[in-house]
Amino acid sequence: MRCWPCSAAAYVAKPLDVDALVQRIRTLGRPLEPAGEAEDGLGLSPAMQAIDRMLGRLAASDGTVLITGESGVGKEQVARRLHALADGGRARPFVAVNCGAIPDTLLEAELFGFEKGAFTGAIKERRGYFEQADGGTLFLDEVGDMPPAMQVKLLRAIQERTITRVGAENPFKVDVRLVCATHEDLHRLVETGRFREDLYYRINVIHLPIPPLRERREDILWLARRFLAEQSDKRGGTPFALSATAERGLLAHPWPGNIRELKHAIERACILSERPQISPEALLGEVLQPALSGALDGETLAGHLERCEKRYLEQALSLQQWRIGDTAEALGISRKTLWEKMKKHGIAEPAR
Ligand SMILES: Nc1ncnc2c1ncn2[C@@H]1O[C@H](COP(=O)(O)OP(=O)(O)O)[C@@H](O)[C@H]1O
Ligand SMILES: [Mg+2]
Repeated sequence: MRCWPCSAAAYVAKPLDVDALVQRIRTLGRPLEPAGEAEDGLGLSPAMQAIDRMLGRLAASDGTVLITGESGVGKEQVARRLHALADGGRARPFVAVNCGAIPDTLLEAELFGFEKGAFTGAIKERRGYFEQADGGTLFLDEVGDMPPAMQVKLLRAIQERTITRVGAENPFKVDVRLVCATHEDLHRLVETGRFREDLYYRINVIHLPIPPLRERREDILWLARRFLAEQSDKRGGTPFALSATAERGLLAHPWPGNIRELKHAIERACILSERPQISPEALLGEVLQPALSGALDGETLAGHLERCEKRYLEQALSLQQWRIGDTAEALGISRKTLWEKMKKHGIAEPAR
């Protein structure tokens, strides 16, 4: 489901014209200045600016917020920004919990805390994440991974605004703003019975879907500059900058790993580059070219070519926003051939 009134297509000419985009961004002015005044924003794209305005409004309430989007799009960053806006410098706690990373058997004790002697090994009482976040924000990441038994308990905690430590008799009040996040389609999880419908409605009061980076290319160079400035601070003030070709390379890349991938690409380039001027090779050598390491592992030529083809098709499809006809035309092959190749490689449009 597309929730944004303005899809990427509305502000990026189709098919993607990198030169025009570079020009557009240059005329916007801001991204070419060193990251500074817009330091704490989320980006230049209409989509992220709309989210930022929304956060400003949400900060005044303590409603539950659900943030969805692919891995690396900045869901936690958005949650932290909401907290910072609501907090206004009062230094209240922000507690982030990855529900998928905690074994099911420990989740209740981790979230709600436990009393001394509640179970073997509970030699001392402990506060759970809800208590630690009291007065502030509890960020429940990958909430779709929560086992059904915990889903019931979470629902109760949200409804009654109380929690009960494991091994305790009485519940007590906690005052937290709950922000949940997931890269999964929660609605689908509800349909397939993996996620409780009542909990879904409870946490899905305000929904912020974060678009993938390839759908908001105006943010790419803006983010890249922030990361360059960070690296500059870390590495004795070296004035890192992108060459024009490097900028074009960044804009053309589909960024399947989103902002996380961009951040790592910049970090790596700053570490590896011999000059402050970052070249496309330093930046995208690894990102754009399938690693040659396969050859060292005895990969056959045929296997390597297959891998290159798959990657190239994925990038081409992503650049054409997964329009089969346009992609086939750009690649100089028929639609049928493209379909067959997609089938052979198991390529499918990523879920939104
Ligand atoms: N607006 C932003 N400005 C700077 N860095 C960002 C921004 N959004 C995300 N990041 C960085 O990108 C990486 C991935 O963001 P994160 O919030 O963890 O994504 P997600 O939770 O969706 O997987 C983190 O290192 C984060 O600091
Ligand atoms: Mg995350």
